[in-house]
Amino acid sequence: MSAFPPNFLWGAATAAYQVEGAYNEDGKGPSIWDIFSHQPGTTYQGTNGDVAVDHYHHVKEDVQLMAEMGLQSYRFSISWPRLLPNGRGEINEAGIQFYSDLIDDLLAHNIEPMITLYHWDLPQALQDEGGWEARSTAEAFEEYARLCYARFGSRVKKWATFNETIVFIGHGYITGNHPPSVRNPARAIQACHHVFVAHALAIKAFRGMGINGEIGFVNVLQPHSPLTNSPEDKTASDLADAIHTHWFYDPVLKGHYPAELLAQSQALWGVPRFAPGDDELLRKNRCDFIGLNYYRRETVSAQPPVEKVSGEQGVEGLFYFVRNPQSTYTEWGWEIWPQGLTDGIMMIKERYGDIPIYITENGLGAVDPIVDGEIVDDPRIDFLRMHIDALEKAIALGADVRGYYPWSFIDLLSWLNGYKKQYGFVYVDHKKNLARQRKKSFFWYQDVIASRGENR
Ligand code: BG6
Repeated sequence: MSAFPPNFLWGAATAAYQVEGAYNEDGKGPSIWDIFSHQPGTTYQGTNGDVAVDHYHHVKEDVQLMAEMGLQSYRFSISWPRLLPNGRGEINEAGIQFYSDLIDDLLAHNIEPMITLYHWDLPQALQDEGGWEARSTAEAFEEYARLCYARFGSRVKKWATFNETIVFIGHGYITGNHPPSVRNPARAIQACHHVFVAHALAIKAFRGMGINGEIGFVNVLQPHSPLTNSPEDKTASDLADAIHTHWFYDPVLKGHYPAELLAQSQALWGVPRFAPGDDELLRKNRCDFIGLNYYRRETVSAQPPVEKVSGEQGVEGLFYFVRNPQSTYTEWGWEIWPQGLTDGIMMIKERYGDIPIYITENGLGAVDPIVDGEIVDDPRIDFLRMHIDALEKAIALGADVRGYYPWSFIDLLSWLNGYKKQYGFVYVDHKKNLARQRKKSFFWYQDVIASRGENR
């Protein structure tokens, strides 16, 4: 007997910049990613989302494929500058129409929409006024959220404000790999604070407008394990939990920052600076659910690695992410560790209580083999199967997990890895007019959904 509850949602996810294309069509304004990716040397082989997989023009066909797969829910993000080309003020009705039609089409096929309001494509106009470092961006976000609720709120019941703050703030303001390419921890922390403020303002507006649905926040779920039993590695791993996890979950689930870390940050850098009322705003506007994006665990050492690992590095002098010699890694150096999904979910339950959970992303980035014209992505099937097993374990242990959205419905643009790193159930042929093709995993997931997780 499967542990999945009868109303458990089997979904899949994407994000606007990674699939839509049509970056300057029908009145859309530029986003920070449009500007950034056009600068030489910023992305893998200069790839960008100008066309992406042209979901904007293939939307009907794509929804047909979702329906054929049996998808019960589709998580997608709205491009803020497609609705508000300047970030606030003038509304682009053509943009509203695009999403409105998409929602109608999904509902007509019994696919429940889950909207992410912010998956990293800030309107450039707001970046020009300071981006997330400016408090006014949080206020503009509230205006944008209100517009979305007003136009789509009667049809959409599931909303997430932000996707993975640690990633767009971390890469935007610490590593400099994402726009606005700053490298300054103090600026990162203040920008991050404005994201939490924006999130709380959007939740307050949601409740104030009486929208009938649930609203949450999507975070990276990345459990940390010490490399050895040494007290140094254990301390390093605990620090990684505090900085990479608690800092990003506590404000939205507990309504305040982790006290010790907040005090340290304010003593060291004078940030985050609170405006009057911020405390109360965070305290009173917590999430209805938490979305977890799980890809991997990180092994943590107090010592820098001998060999540099790809991906995240840790925090210089405090903790380092290293390879676990016993484990298996993807081609991009991400550890394959399904047990981390069970452990991570249980860690959330333990720290934050019985909050409803959606697994809003989980997937394998790989170069898929093509055999006699078919995309035989067996490693993806194995990866997803092991993670569904892990999810089932967490549910059996009492976690309130309500849905699973593998990343991704279709192959899409990876922010820094172009089209080389594939995640989808549907392949897109960039040499053949972006023709769609079902992969082996498409049929496998179809069966998983039809059997409510039994056949996998
Ligand atoms: C998540 C993001 O961090 O990871 C997605 O929410 C992203 O947008 C996914 O595509 C996979 O990352 P990458 O770098 O492999 O494309």
